[in-house]
Amino acid sequence: MTRKRVAILISGRGSNMAALIEAAKAPDYPAEIALVLSNVPGAAGLARASEAGIATAAIDHKPFGRDREAFDRQLDAMLQEHRIDIVCLAGFLRVLGPQLVGRWNGRLINIHPSLLPAFKGLHTHERALAAGATQHGATVHFVVPDLDSGPIIEQASVPVLPGDTPDSLAARVLEVEHRIYPLALKRLAEGRI
Ligand code: GRF
Repeated sequence: MTRKRVAILISGRGSNMAALIEAAKAPDYPAEIALVLSNVPGAAGLARASEAGIATAAIDHKPFGRDREAFDRQLDAMLQEHRIDIVCLAGFLRVLGPQLVGRWNGRLINIHPSLLPAFKGLHTHERALAAGATQHGATVHFVVPDLDSGPIIEQASVPVLPGDTPDSLAARVLEVEHRIYPLALKRLAEGRI
């Protein structure tokens, strides 16, 4: 079995990244985590990835200012350099431009903390509570130029419980995120979607 080479893009703590790294330890998992890359040089997830023996890189977006395309080009070059087949966004807080997204079409996926198409964008847990939702959850989807709008690969729901706060709801959702992201990547790496 040739395992697909995966890059995980993060901006923060990287708990979904850690779930993917853990899943990829299984000998029959069809993907290996070849690179963890962040736009935030001090992101906690980078240290976590290094400890796991995974190559890491940081491309700080700040020096690029408004030149998003230049940032995307450098990112793309780094992905090529590491011979990456599939890119997983996991708490990556940068919007990628249409050119890069187009180049990686079908090989670029994201996890979003809501039952898409509900609650695209930020602050999903607060918004689900404010809307009185009784179910909430997480979605893994292909990335397309429109934010949080690509075809859905995996989805899982959790109940919203009386007395929930954004934090308690986020913690419940995060548990299912860690379960569905490895499943979605497996399906993609096996060519089953
Ligand atoms: C997760 O809730 C993910 O769905 C969202 O950002 C958060 C990242 O958390 N896109 P982590 O860095 O994976 O712990």
